[in-house]
Amino acid sequence: MKVGCVREIKNNEFRVGLTPDNVKAYVAAGHEAFIEKGAGIGSGFPDADYEAAGAIMKEEASCVWKNADMMVKVKEPLPPEYPLFHEGLILYTYLHLAPDPEQTEALIRGKVKGVAYETLQEKDRSLPLLIPMSQIAGRLSIQEGAKYLEKRFGGEGVLLAGVPGTPKANVVILGGGTVGTNACKIAVGMGANVTIIDISLPRLEYLDDRFGSQIQTLVSTDANIERAVKEADLVIGSVLIPGASTPKLFKKKYLKEMKPGAVFVDVAIDQGGCGESSRVTSHDDPIFIEDGIVHYCVGNMPGAVPRTSTIALTNATIRYGLQIANLGLEEACRKNPVIYSAVNTYVGKTAFPGVAECYPEMEYADIRALIG
Ligand SMILES: NC(=O)c1ccc[n+]([C@@H]2O[C@H](COP(=O)([O-])OP(=O)(O)OC[C@H]3O[C@@H](n4cnc5c(N)ncnc54)[C@H](O)[C@@H]3O)[C@@H](O)[C@H]2O)c1
Repeated sequence: MKVGCVREIKNNEFRVGLTPDNVKAYVAAGHEAFIEKGAGIGSGFPDADYEAAGAIMKEEASCVWKNADMMVKVKEPLPPEYPLFHEGLILYTYLHLAPDPEQTEALIRGKVKGVAYETLQEKDRSLPLLIPMSQIAGRLSIQEGAKYLEKRFGGEGVLLAGVPGTPKANVVILGGGTVGTNACKIAVGMGANVTIIDISLPRLEYLDDRFGSQIQTLVSTDANIERAVKEADLVIGSVLIPGASTPKLFKKKYLKEMKPGAVFVDVAIDQGGCGESSRVTSHDDPIFIEDGIVHYCVGNMPGAVPRTSTIALTNATIRYGLQIANLGLEEACRKNPVIYSAVNTYVGKTAFPGVAECYPEMEYADIRALIG
């Protein structure tokens, strides 16, 4: 197959779909890799490394699109890229079609086989192409929170770990899933007092086993949350109910009861946020202060660390990407049925039930029945 990768054109997106090591793997499997010059620069991968890995470098993104049987990207294509689609192209990337009718129509019109990272679900129901980004956001949440506790940003002016003879900071984590566990790991490592609150008793049991006496676990009730955040220096919002809107567990009334200059990092903001006072911010302008509490609500936190994010993402995508390139999408689905769950559009039809529900006017194909 001819596998392509272009520079991401979304504002402030520095990740890239293929690393030089990925190129080496595709070339070793007998494929050709077409890479736009400069595609990896934002993640610290120079053109020379791609060339050394066996890539064919192209000056223009349009040449890569034209040549490719399969495009590997990070973000969804944007309108200037729609005219570059061609029939049968496999587009392997994050798509997020539900809120994006324009892109969905373009993929359908272009008869593109849209394979979305975010819906690929393993047999144990995990989402392996989303997990690395949650791991990064969780770890980063403590790093960012620690920074915004500094006085110059409006923070309380406390050091998370303290020093001998001073109190350690109190970190409260709402939601102990992938983000929450990774936040916990870093906060514990930095020496903070950590309380983690979750609705799931089995999850609390796991966290208690894993971190032992280093953390306090609490079951999620309004009373427990209110008591914990009153004493908190840093609160992390990392709650998720799959397929439902995020519950607003961090109430506006708590702000006045908290320590002035405490920090709230609402990682769940990409799903609406778990704070009543949260609103989306960006890497250019990440914080705002409400009732004396510093709010950090960046919706694409991994974008702050594109090199780590690219390596983490491609570590997960390469496995399925190679299966698709080696066998073709259809045979890859038959051999590894997990890949069916990632097919969102298929030559002129929607192919994922959640996407089809959003666009009843578009033709839907049951991909398993169609491919067999
Ligand atoms: N801002 C970003 O850049 C970024 C990056 C990655 C993930 N996220 C978001 O972070 C959030 C968490 O993601 P995740 O991968 O950790 O999800 P996850 O499913 O692994 O964890 C969610 C946790 O929330 C818990 N929960 C559900 N309802 C609760 C309640 N009422 N009280 C307390 N806990 C409750 C669940 O039991 C689960 O343990 C998601 O909204 C995700 O989209 C944001």
